Amino acid sequence: MTMRRKLIAGNWKMNGLKADGLALAQGLADKLKGGPAPACDLLVCPPFTLIAPVAAIAAGSALAVGGQDCHAKTSGAHTGDTSPVMLADLGCAYAIVGHSERRTDHAETDAVVKAKGTAAQAAGLIAIVCIGETLAQRDAGQTIEVNRSQLQGSLPDGATPDNTVIAYEPVWAIGTGRVATPAQAQEVHAAIRAELASKLGGEAASRMRILYGGSMKPDNARELLALPDVDGGLIGGASLKVADFWAIAESC
Ligand code: PGA
Repeated sequence: MTMRRKLIAGNWKMNGLKADGLALAQGLADKLKGGPAPACDLLVCPPFTLIAPVAAIAAGSALAVGGQDCHAKTSGAHTGDTSPVMLADLGCAYAIVGHSERRTDHAETDAVVKAKGTAAQAAGLIAIVCIGETLAQRDAGQTIEVNRSQLQGSLPDGATPDNTVIAYEPVWAIGTGRVATPAQAQEVHAAIRAELASKLGGEAASRMRILYGGSMKPDNARELLALPDVDGGLIGGASLKVADFWAIAESC
């Protein structure tokens, strides 16, 4: 089996003013300096307003920084948007694209997500492409089909294990405290990997990281991260506390 290094990614969403955001980043940087690093890659995705100062704190440490979204164009008349080139310019290494909150709040389609991921990769960023079914879709027995079709529609054409990470985030588990069972998570992750294999070939599929997201916490992380096809986590609520995020990273 190919060894995939796990990625623990914090998605701060629209949370954090200067004082708490910088304290959070500093707390993680101090942990990394202070002792043995966890056996995973560590990433934080602050709101756009905090990317520059968080990147300054993370510089020279093993903490990577990413954007929560990016535009599909590199520059131009797009008021309020942020281009992937701007993210790279600030020191970002990653951009999340297609989070379900973006898909819902901003009506982002698979095609939009694919264009954003493609632009992120062209800017030298690793795109974290998010997919996931709603509760209604799960209850209707459409889970695998929905995730397969979102993956087909959202995966950038030039996706490789080096420029792409997939995040499976069941919408019903995001911010709800209701986490997927290990069996539910593994079933979808395995189906995603099979779909990646048919699209990109077995070798690439076996190296591409697939994160689980949705109410991952210190007390359920170990079990989820031990699943054969779960290669890390995309963490919202629990990424806002140094101790919780660190405990999840240490579960790797
Ligand atoms: P949550 O969010 O950990 O708060 O459920 C996860 C996400 O939306 O990325």
